[in-house]
Amino acid sequence: MSHHYIRFNDVHFTYPNGYEALKGVSFLITHGEKVALLGLNGAGKSTVLLHTNGLLMPTSGEVNVGDIPVTKKTLPIVRQSVGMVFQNADDQLFMLTVEEDVAFGPLNMGLDGAEVDRRVVSALESVGASDLRTRSPFRLSGGQKKRVAIATVLSMEPSILVMDEPTAELDLEARRQVCDIVKSFHHTCLIATHDLALARELCERAIVIADGRVVADGPVAEISADFERSIICR
Ligand SMILES: Nc1ncnc2c1ncn2[C@@H]1O[C@H](COP(=O)(O)OP(=O)(O)O)[C@@H](O)[C@H]1O
Ligand SMILES: [Mg+2]
Repeated sequence: MSHHYIRFNDVHFTYPNGYEALKGVSFLITHGEKVALLGLNGAGKSTVLLHTNGLLMPTSGEVNVGDIPVTKKTLPIVRQSVGMVFQNADDQLFMLTVEEDVAFGPLNMGLDGAEVDRRVVSALESVGASDLRTRSPFRLSGGQKKRVAIATVLSMEPSILVMDEPTAELDLEARRQVCDIVKSFHHTCLIATHDLALARELCERAIVIADGRVVADGPVAEISADFERSIICR
């Protein structure tokens, strides 16, 4: 009865404007796997990620997190299991101080003050941002913001970490830091990225999506090399 896997079963999704962004996506990511989701702009990567914690619901097909089907009813439990780091950290930070942002999730889960505090300390420490605790999230560098955004998710102690382009727009040092944070997360990860070096460093498996369909799925070295070749040789 592991809750640490994600299963997509023939997921179709049509946006309200009528655009079908997912055209039958199926995969199973098992406990502890780190998987890169590769694909060109507009392929459907973010749309897939938004289905993992019910921010979007399939038009048809099913998404399961562990043995729990993602439905309106199961959203609270699904969102405790699946921690989503958005591409843009500004979408994740909205309180006056870093500590309030990091405490937001645990408070919402109804945890008591001492436990919330323990989680804030631990999450900030694990992203190397303890010194930013009382700062305003809006006055941080891009790399600091990204680390704090990750802390707001880690404080909920998710069993699955989902990240959308986590290194986009980061400098090399911030990229390194994000990489190390993901490495120290020892549960299931699904990472949408253009950064093939990152995919190879962090993930053992890659899934390629093109025009709303899974077109490749396998060991990261092989799949990312094929993906690179397919773009260069077009
Ligand atoms: N809110 C939306 N309304 C309509 N179409 C959208 C919306 N969001 C994304 N799309 C379209 O869905 C497709 C997949 O988008 P997305 O999942 O963001 O791709 P990726 O993350 O791989 O770049 C694209 O063609 C995009 O234009
Ligand atoms: Mg995207």
